Amino acid sequence: MNEPLIAPSILSADFARLGEEVDNVLAAGADMVHFDVMDNHYVPNLTIGPMVCEALRKHGVTAPIDVHLMVKPVDDLIQMFIDAGASYITFHPEASEHIDRSLQMVREAGLKTGLVFNPATPLHYMDYVMDKLDMILLMSVNPGFGGQSFIPGTLDKLREARRKIDASGRNIRLEVDGGVKEDNIGEIAAAGADTFVAGSAIFKKDDYSRIIADMRDRIAA
Ligand code: DX5
Ligand code: ZN
Repeated sequence: MNEPLIAPSILSADFARLGEEVDNVLAAGADMVHFDVMDNHYVPNLTIGPMVCEALRKHGVTAPIDVHLMVKPVDDLIQMFIDAGASYITFHPEASEHIDRSLQMVREAGLKTGLVFNPATPLHYMDYVMDKLDMILLMSVNPGFGGQSFIPGTLDKLREARRKIDASGRNIRLEVDGGVKEDNIGEIAAAGADTFVAGSAIFKKDDYSRIIADMRDRIAA
């Protein structure tokens, strides 16, 4: 299994001090930055776009930026985030007219790809594109907001996704997003996740180093 990665979601950061917040969370031991893009169409909320990603790169952020597109359609924004310095670009299969083409756009630009599965979205969308995936992201809440509760059925879905990845023999990360906290991250890891998004659990704490170290201990336990 891949080395575990912790990806704080900047949705819960203080947007008025975003550069500083990202610097602080990376200095505290985070592995990458999870960047939630919402369009008030595919999901009922509106957040940040490619200009903010580019601004973080100009600010000096060199860590991977994991762009989670909750937008429909996806292709125009994929191109804009390629140009803005994204590292991973993940999108929801329901939001793309041509899933294979959207994945190829990301791959051909040399970035890492991922498909995102809402709680009720079946995993079979991955079946014919396994060779074009670097990551599978399972939503453990309905997308749109930080601070929601983890949906317990995600644990079985994680085990199923882990089986599919292992059966494929491919090196595909399994990420989980939504309601990940220090008290459930151990069982989420045991169910097969190797990449952990956490927004409110990290940014609502004063000591980012301590919560990230605590999460790592619980993943390893
Ligand atoms: C929700 C976003 C998440 C969100 C997670 O639609 O995709 O990345 O920020 O926030 P928490 O960890 O607070 O549930
Ligand atoms: Zn997200």
